[in-house]
Amino acid sequence: MSLTKVNPSRPYLHYAPEKNWMNDPNGLVFFNNEYHLFYQYHPNGTTWGPMHWGHAVSRNLIDWEELPIALYPDHHGTIFSGSAVVDWHNTTGFFNDGPGLVAIFTHHKETDSGIVQSQSLAYSTDSGRTWIKYEGNPVLSHPSNPDFRDPKVFWHDESDKWVMVLATGQTISIYSSQNLISWVFESEFGTNIGSHEGVWECPDLFALKIEGTQEVKWVMIVSIGDGDGLAYGSRTQYFTGWFDGKAFISEHSEAKWLDDGRDQYAGVTFSDIPEEDNRRILIGWMSNWRYANQVPTEGWRSQMTLPRELTLKEIEGNTKLIQHFPEELDTWFNHTNQIEKTVGSSGLNIDVEKGPIYLALNTQCPNSGELQISLNYSDQTYTVIQFNFNEQKLSLKRSKSGEVNFSELFSKDQELFFRDMTDLQLTMVIDTFSVELLLNDGEYALTSLQFPDESLKNISLRMDTGEVSMKGVIKQ
Ligand code: FRU
Repeated sequence: MSLTKVNPSRPYLHYAPEKNWMNDPNGLVFFNNEYHLFYQYHPNGTTWGPMHWGHAVSRNLIDWEELPIALYPDHHGTIFSGSAVVDWHNTTGFFNDGPGLVAIFTHHKETDSGIVQSQSLAYSTDSGRTWIKYEGNPVLSHPSNPDFRDPKVFWHDESDKWVMVLATGQTISIYSSQNLISWVFESEFGTNIGSHEGVWECPDLFALKIEGTQEVKWVMIVSIGDGDGLAYGSRTQYFTGWFDGKAFISEHSEAKWLDDGRDQYAGVTFSDIPEEDNRRILIGWMSNWRYANQVPTEGWRSQMTLPRELTLKEIEGNTKLIQHFPEELDTWFNHTNQIEKTVGSSGLNIDVEKGPIYLALNTQCPNSGELQISLNYSDQTYTVIQFNFNEQKLSLKRSKSGEVNFSELFSKDQELFFRDMTDLQLTMVIDTFSVELLLNDGEYALTSLQFPDESLKNISLRMDTGEVSMKGVIKQ
């Protein structure tokens, strides 16, 4: 199943277009045994430009096949972000037999009198291979709001209708529909709630059961665009609460953050994963608007994050989103080795083969000292992941990770503060140009790009004082 490990100038595990520019994942949907990944795509250059929907499919969420462009700009504008659903019962009337795919996306038009964003439909009767734009487009417009985009649509069983969440400046507007064609405004969420550092983009709304209970809560995901003076560039917040088919009520007013790294943006979840599977799986764009157009890759630009399975957990009175890599990743690697070693100040070196690495560590959490994990590319090129147990802080330092000078923000440390943990449980995937790190059984996530010009040689682990007996696995 593994790809042949031949081309170190591209990621092995992470989706990246063969050529040219990509941003947000769009239209994530499962249909006829395939996962579809559409995405913001500029086919004529390696920087952001007139948007199309690129397209790729996968059967295992890891290996993707790039297909021809799905949606091209037309007289209503270019094709901004949006979602796709399976219209199982032909509510649209677009399908003669059986169900089909409907894409709900934003048409973006720059006119002399300003920007116009409106929502439009396209449908496919051949499993997403070709698309027909609905002749009545656009189906939802606003007379004056220039920020009116990124529709995420789902079927809400309880009220027997489609629901759309839409980014409308610094709020999320909720609409409903019987047929995806005519939409009714229901409510607006977000005033005085969460972070308003930048424009709100790419919302998602879904229900999840809280682990170990029968209780269900709703999760609203909202990405926030970059703005002058923001410490992190673009990033993603989420809210937990309740949804009754009309309004979303958050149970908290402070933002919760999806990822403490800089390179997880515009993440949304798959529609129509079958009930027997029932996973809620998110893919994000693995970049940051602060430097996305400058990252040093050749001929193509941007990757998606690995898919993450989302669950909810009640932790110290807080409902938190938990992230795990999908089980499909476990069987992707060819070799698994156990790690069972005492790690002290003299350190432990793990040699690695070329290609992506999956590293899972599990040890009793020391309550003082520092554990340093170093990803060594050469004597001068390395990424350091440091656990400071006194301060309960994890830092990912990429200032020596390779090319960093394309952005001031890029080389700054990324940090996350963790609560008291009995075990140090860390899962990490290291690919050609990235590190994705999940801590404490997925309670914390940190997604980070890096651009070394050599392949990874070894990983070293070292405690500054004391020792830990480290257990884990490494897969390559
Ligand atoms: C988010 C975003 C969306 C928009 C798209 C344009 O990254 O700005 O709001 O639809 O990118 O490419």
